[in-house]
Amino acid sequence: MTASADHIKALVRAHAAGDESGFYSVALQVAAGAARRGQNRFANDLKNLIDAARTERIPRVTPTPVIQPRGELADLVTAEYPDVRLSDMTLNAATRARLDQVLHEQRQRDLLESHGFAPIHRLLLTGPPGTGKSMTASVLATELSLPLFTIRLDALISKYMGETSGKLRVIFDATVRTRAVYLFDEFDALGAQRTAGNDVGEARRILNTFLLFLDDTQPESLVVAATNHPALLDTALFRRFDGVIAYALPDSTQSLDVLRRRLSAVNTSAVSWDEVANHVNELSQAELVRAAESAAKRTILDGSALVSTAGLVVSLDERRTARHG
Ligand SMILES: Nc1ncnc2c1ncn2[C@@H]1O[C@H](COP(=O)(O)OP(=O)(O)OP(=O)(O)O)[C@@H](O)[C@H]1O
Ligand SMILES: [Mg+2]
Repeated sequence: MTASADHIKALVRAHAAGDESGFYSVALQVAAGAARRGQNRFANDLKNLIDAARTERIPRVTPTPVIQPRGELADLVTAEYPDVRLSDMTLNAATRARLDQVLHEQRQRDLLESHGFAPIHRLLLTGPPGTGKSMTASVLATELSLPLFTIRLDALISKYMGETSGKLRVIFDATVRTRAVYLFDEFDALGAQRTAGNDVGEARRILNTFLLFLDDTQPESLVVAATNHPALLDTALFRRFDGVIAYALPDSTQSLDVLRRRLSAVNTSAVSWDEVANHVNELSQAELVRAAESAAKRTILDGSALVSTAGLVVSLDERRTARHG
């Protein structure tokens, strides 16, 4: 990587002054200089990074009204404006098609409604930890330019106990007034078997209340429930959703894709991907991301320019050991 000392100083100065456009224009000069020296790969990568960073920032500088939950709702949900895109996810073709369909229907909501149809707006996401369920809720919010409101059902239930149904009403009332993606995380907390020690009848009542509200939700908002224990849920319940999307651990091609994506900002030209493929077994997408991050950080801190196969393999094996340990 070659950036002159002056460039680096100018970058730091622009950053310190919060001068975003100055920062990117110096970065572009570095890219242009690299292109002139024939370092085309670096020049292109840098230009792409700058373009991506700039487009990602656009929604933040335009005066979109930031919706913050108010009153009672503020205690029940956490609000955020995510910025992960669908293209950031590694998905199998079927899941990708399902998500495209959800987005398409939501975007064409007015047209569908004018013909008396409702777009898909109640989704159940199932699958092992770290396979992209929460990420999907973020992606739906980003792609539809909506805020993401997250409700941790287990926390809600343990905090409010007998008042949980009333709190659910507050949340579902909000889905009509405030268009957003509402993610009910840890949805299996409503599965009756899970409530060992608790009153099973109470969990049932909460579940039934949830389903009644779910039946009534308007397609303004998306209600997304996520669980990694689908077995704890009554299968009859799956029918109450417009769609159930099952997430799974990645196959080896997808695993390498997740790794490559997370390593896109560092040089991986020395990595033997065939060798790496022998070490991705059993790891979830989230674990692969973590392994890639630790390999990249180690490379940077070692002052090395290239991620090594051995470094990546060590990080992957560490992840696997961490899970068994
Ligand atoms: N399909 C995917 N493609 C790319 N990255 C992914 C994918 N799935 C997960 N990740 C990475 O792993 C992180 C954690 O994933 P996420 O929180 O979506 O998992 P989850 O399925 O909700 O797990 P849990 O059941 O533990 O809540 C994401 O922020 C992302 O960095
Ligand atoms: Mg999650």
